[in-house]
Amino acid sequence: MARETWGSRVGFVAAAVGSAVGLGNIWMFPWRAGTLGGAAFLIPYLILLFAIGVIALTVEWTLGRSTKGGPIVAFQKAGLPGGKYLGLLVNIVMVMIFAFYSLVLGWILRYFIAALTGELLKTHPGAFFEGLAFSKEAMIWQFVVIMLTVAIVALGVQKGIEKANKIMMPALFALLIILAVRSVTLPNAYEGLKFYLLPDISKALAPKTWMIALSQMFFSLSVLGNTMVVYGSYLKEKDDIPLSAVATAFGDTAVAVTAGFLIFPAVFAFGLEPGAGPGLVFVTLPMVFQKMSGGTFFATLFFLLLLFAGLSSTVSMLEVYVDSAITKLNMDRKKAAILLGLLTFIIGAPSALSPYYFESILINISTVYIGPLGALIAALALIKFGIEKAYEEVKKGALFEVPTFWKPWVKYVYPAVIVLIYLYTIYGMLGG
Ligand code: PHE
Repeated sequence: MARETWGSRVGFVAAAVGSAVGLGNIWMFPWRAGTLGGAAFLIPYLILLFAIGVIALTVEWTLGRSTKGGPIVAFQKAGLPGGKYLGLLVNIVMVMIFAFYSLVLGWILRYFIAALTGELLKTHPGAFFEGLAFSKEAMIWQFVVIMLTVAIVALGVQKGIEKANKIMMPALFALLIILAVRSVTLPNAYEGLKFYLLPDISKALAPKTWMIALSQMFFSLSVLGNTMVVYGSYLKEKDDIPLSAVATAFGDTAVAVTAGFLIFPAVFAFGLEPGAGPGLVFVTLPMVFQKMSGGTFFATLFFLLLLFAGLSSTVSMLEVYVDSAITKLNMDRKKAAILLGLLTFIIGAPSALSPYYFESILINISTVYIGPLGALIAALALIKFGIEKAYEEVKKGALFEVPTFWKPWVKYVYPAVIVLIYLYTIYGMLGG
């Protein structure tokens, strides 16, 4: 059977942005920025995005399109030594990511219902979050979210993913801007803006800041050697890789940065702690809605759109290992989606009861310790495939000339930056 392809160019960009934009932007980005000094995090983040983020997307899509396969096939076909096992590794990382992400998306689903019924506007947000976050109830919402994803993936790439994103993403962004304006005009919002925009240089230089910024950027762009390789494999020759990469990186970053403008002024206005961690957004947002006229309406719409943004990300996660099961184990799409969805639930469910398992095991291992390695592995695979051939491939369908510095950048600069940040982190851990 011929491999499926995207229905249209716009459909591809919508799906890529759909994968990239999600809880990473609105939940994890403010959490990470809040614990690492606000602007001191934002600046390394943006530097890395410009230096290697856009390139990283072109690398994974080029690898996917030229090998017509997900990570296992792509790494093998590119001739990467141990390609099969490295491909397996990035699949496992993907399972771990979906396992924790589904818990957080389950919280969003519960918040959506609470917003719809008006409950959210009346509760004490901190207590509401505490009662929900790590509980048996959360596990049920997590299960629902996983099953919704299974249903979409079972229907296949085109039908399932492309359509909803075209309306939902712009709507989410517009709403974020409205909310950010409300937040910035709260009393004392100024303190939050200072925190978010004026860096403390010593914090900005800390090894940990760079490591988390690197992992956050890759996570947010869905560049971990898995999702974007698969999405690239559905590309046609006439699709424009470089332009789509710029559009995806821009859209993704615009959402994350705007989320910061929404969260930090509110955090300071309400006297909260910016370093509160994974609960930050869940406690701050309801407070903003409580202060708005039409709060119930905006809250309901917001959590609904966020639910869709999250689902277009979880779909792109499950798609990775479903695709592996289809091509490597000859499984039928529906069966693979259901079985692997259940497997994800088994691995993810304990996170609904243990914050330690949730954060220190699932999140940190998959996104911080191994995530960036996945991106590095994909880059090494493309280098092994041959940088000249890769350059010919990335140019196909491109509206604008791809500068020749793409080649040394992919071959040397990009992998070197990742390696250097790992080394800098180890140096930092050794007390340097
Ligand atoms: N980029 C998504 C987000 O920001 C998460 C994701 C990571 C999706 C890796 C697919 C692969 O929410």
